Amino acid sequence: MSKSNSMLRLDKYLADLSVGTRTEVKQLIRKGRVMVNGNTIIVPETKVNSNQDRISVDGRELSYVHLEYYMLNKPAGVVSASNDKKQTTVVDLIEEAKRKDLFPVGRLDKDTEGLLIITNDGDLAHQLLSPKKHVDKVYFARLRDPLKKEDEEAFASGLTIDEEFTALPAVLKRVSEREAYVTIREGKFHQIKRMFEAVKNEVVYLKRISMGSLNLDENLSLGEYRELTEDEIKALRSSK
Ligand code: URA
Repeated sequence: MSKSNSMLRLDKYLADLSVGTRTEVKQLIRKGRVMVNGNTIIVPETKVNSNQDRISVDGRELSYVHLEYYMLNKPAGVVSASNDKKQTTVVDLIEEAKRKDLFPVGRLDKDTEGLLIITNDGDLAHQLLSPKKHVDKVYFARLRDPLKKEDEEAFASGLTIDEEFTALPAVLKRVSEREAYVTIREGKFHQIKRMFEAVKNEVVYLKRISMGSLNLDENLSLGEYRELTEDEIKALRSSK
């Protein structure tokens, strides 16, 4: 938690914690329902220190959370977005979220399952998604047709997907006749599906198993999530 950004306006503090919209929390403050260190404060612009000040609404003390990190086992049928007018998003599934600015780190297709990190840490997301960093992502894929002998070699040498995109070398590890693990170091749109199309096959089921140092927790059923541990966050920050 950095000290440098610990001073913020009281209305932003409350809105960040989803106490209400900015307009709603301003009203709460003006009505005298908010206390800072035991004193009623009625000016929404008042600066507070999120590391030290004790803030309460209607007598209930809040605790300010700067950054949140969750691991979600994404089910099929939800979209990788923060909000959507019509469809359920991965962020909607994080029912215990304290912050309202959470987003998924990268995207999984609507029909893809598995590991998705949900956070409001933009720096970490950038680090994990930056094309320069080449963070490994491992997927489990089930295929329409049997794998061919030459597929492994084709993935390893960098598949040409179309005129604009040649995939970086990827590792294909056969699990059974129609199942494989694939490790890629980039994250282009529909990448795994397009790689199998390039070898005349088709993905019928896809699940992400890991991202950098982080493995999907096997105790999480589809749609379940948990907070990341300090060690997992630290390891992700040094992901290469
Ligand atoms: N590759 C795909 O084709 N889809 C995903 O959701 C992720 C990787």
